[in-house]
Amino acid sequence: MLARQSPKQSYPATSASPAHWLSTADWKAFEDAGTAAHRACSLHGAWVERLGEDLLINHQSPALLASLLEEWKLRAPAYAYTPQRIFSRPLPLQNAERSAPVLLEGDPALPVETVVSESRMRFGLDFSAGYSVGLFLDQRANRALLRTAPLKRVLNTFAYTCSFSVAAALAGAETLSVDLSQKSLERGRHNFVLNELDPSAHRFVADDVQDLLPRLARRKEQFDAIILDPPTFSRGNKGRRFRAEDDLQALLSAALEITAPGGRILLSTNCTKLRVADLETIARFALKNARLQGTLQHSPPLVDFPVKTGASTLWIQRR
Ligand SMILES: C[S@@+](CC[C@H](N)C(=O)[O-])C[C@H]1O[C@@H](n2cnc3c(N)ncnc32)[C@H](O)[C@@H]1O
Repeated sequence: MLARQSPKQSYPATSASPAHWLSTADWKAFEDAGTAAHRACSLHGAWVERLGEDLLINHQSPALLASLLEEWKLRAPAYAYTPQRIFSRPLPLQNAERSAPVLLEGDPALPVETVVSESRMRFGLDFSAGYSVGLFLDQRANRALLRTAPLKRVLNTFAYTCSFSVAAALAGAETLSVDLSQKSLERGRHNFVLNELDPSAHRFVADDVQDLLPRLARRKEQFDAIILDPPTFSRGNKGRRFRAEDDLQALLSAALEITAPGGRILLSTNCTKLRVADLETIARFALKNARLQGTLQHSPPLVDFPVKTGASTLWIQRR
């Protein structure tokens, strides 16, 4: 899978910024809401994720890893949580340097595949699958919006393990999930099964989103919600390049063509050069080009993601 770009290039070698640890009240609120997949700590250059029974420390330097591990041991009793394993994952400078998490503590014989819950939805993880283990925690609030919206037809592009599709399908939508990777879509189907949803009642298409969107327009398909959460950079069919900075505008324009009146588009990126204000500019421009009216809405903030961490996201609702 082509993992999303991490914001590491801007980090210093070590960090003097204070760590933002989740309060015990917020930890408990996650448990009460049936969520066992969230950040435990964020700081410049590192973060700690609680992924069900396991902990994953993402770090930009061995010094940050050592200090977070030490601080975790002091804080863990207050959370009343003992991970069965602790993994670490270096944040690479280049995409080519990305590697799967490494087991630091715990039984190496335990399965690399696990299941985590988010608002009582269930998602499969795989600690051996590569750099990304299967669920992007910074999209929790956007999944929650889909989980409660009564939408009929939802298109999830760059679907990866189809977590957005699961949330929409649980709310009764028919979903179409598109990703270049057949393997990721297989994991998506498994996520449907984990949530007692019948994958055969939904569509999964392995293709380049940039080829599929115009095809859907020619077939006059329309969607009530479209998820556009592409990687910062990827290569699609015939080696065609996708670069968020250059191609988000065209992607949004193509999506607007197949958005039903009143329908919504989630525009999201982890490209560090694009903040929410840039997404607003892109959205206004695309709406104007398409001669459409629309409203822009920000995603709700997440208690475990301090400002300016996580993806930049924007909902666009066409009139
Ligand atoms: C960062 S992940 C997307 C995360 C996903 N939106 C989520 O929240 O779980 C990027 C995904 O886009 C897929 N991808 C990259 N370029 C693509 C393209 N041109 N067409 C379709 N899928 C693509 C990759 O295979 C990968 O699964």
